[in-house]
Amino acid sequence: MKKIAIIFGGKSGEHEVSLVSASSIVKVINERSFEVIQIGITESGRWYTGENCLDKFKSKNLEGLTEIFISTDPERIGFIPENGGFIAVDVCFPVLHGPFGEDGTIQGLFEMMNVPYVGCGVLASSTAMDKLQCKAIWEAAGLPVVPYIGLGRSAWEKDSELVLREVKEKLKLPLFVKPANMGSSVGITKVKEWNDLKAAINEAANYDNRILIENGLNVREIECAILGNDDLVASPLGEIIVGGEFYDFNDKYVNGVSRSQIPAEISDDLSKRIKEMSIKAYRLLNCSGLSRVDSFIDKDTGDIFLNEINTLPGFTSISMYPKMMEAYGMSYHSLIERLIELAFERYEDRKKNRVNFNSGSDWFV
Ligand SMILES: Nc1ncnc2c1ncn2[C@@H]1O[C@H](COP(=O)(O)OP(=O)(O)O)[C@@H](O)[C@H]1O
Ligand SMILES: [Mg+2]
Repeated sequence: MKKIAIIFGGKSGEHEVSLVSASSIVKVINERSFEVIQIGITESGRWYTGENCLDKFKSKNLEGLTEIFISTDPERIGFIPENGGFIAVDVCFPVLHGPFGEDGTIQGLFEMMNVPYVGCGVLASSTAMDKLQCKAIWEAAGLPVVPYIGLGRSAWEKDSELVLREVKEKLKLPLFVKPANMGSSVGITKVKEWNDLKAAINEAANYDNRILIENGLNVREIECAILGNDDLVASPLGEIIVGGEFYDFNDKYVNGVSRSQIPAEISDDLSKRIKEMSIKAYRLLNCSGLSRVDSFIDKDTGDIFLNEINTLPGFTSISMYPKMMEAYGMSYHSLIERLIELAFERYEDRKKNRVNFNSGSDWFV
């Protein structure tokens, strides 16, 4: 029986969200096909396993759990408990959102461990986590993105007046100011008056040294679930109908007034264009496994834009990604199984890559 490590918690602001996603996943994994090993990462970055690990993380009482360490021996794939022994695993499923989970760092660890893992690889994960990097890639390929300026924190600290002048020249109010490397709307401000721009940039600069300033449009927010490594499936689209000023942290997790609509009520033609654009966006970042691609429709002009891509989107059974896949015809349970299969397929494919190079020349001795 294959051993699957479900990894949750983590060193990000989305620690709690991760525990909710992991509960849904643990419930549906077929215990006849897989032995589940629950692994929790604390907010300070320690890894634990043991009986009822997920419940213990939820109650914040880790008593009775065992601290574990990663094995970097490529022949012994798994974890070493603090009190000795070995926990072998066949595949890892990182159910972690945000920094240290979705940004390529843990994916790099999996590569070093030589273990198959669910979702995107290192390059796709880290690129997708950085909103400026994604936009640069999509823009270069001719995909539509909302007009924006990328700003380095050091340039801002050096000459803020120059930056403010440049923004006024190139962009129009209202603006959205965002740290390049966050999620859950953290550090994002909608700016309606020029006087508020400075504070908004300072706020974003608290979270990242790369900042994005873009035109704020009057938008419909459309999402598409993409599944696959080479042959891709694009789900019917979903729409987030935002209740407040924008889809902010409060709306997402606290007392949200937003609701979702699957399938989104948009014309077949527009829907087809957004799906095609989402698939291109996924391929351009070299994604594998899954990602949720988020787009905007400008309500005033009807134009479409890519907004961002989430490589480990919220994954409770009522989250948008699984709901959109359900609308496609794939149950939550089958989706989880397919993701695990895709992890093994990607691992096998990567094994085809040669890792050493012998030129045949005696110049290299
Ligand atoms: N250019 C924009 N025009 C209008 N609304 C925007 C724009 N950019 C972001 N928003 C609003 O802010 C929310 C969060 O921004 P987003 O870029 O998706 O960051 P996050 O990674 O935190 O979800 C969006 O869901 C949307 O409601
Ligand atoms: Mg978003």
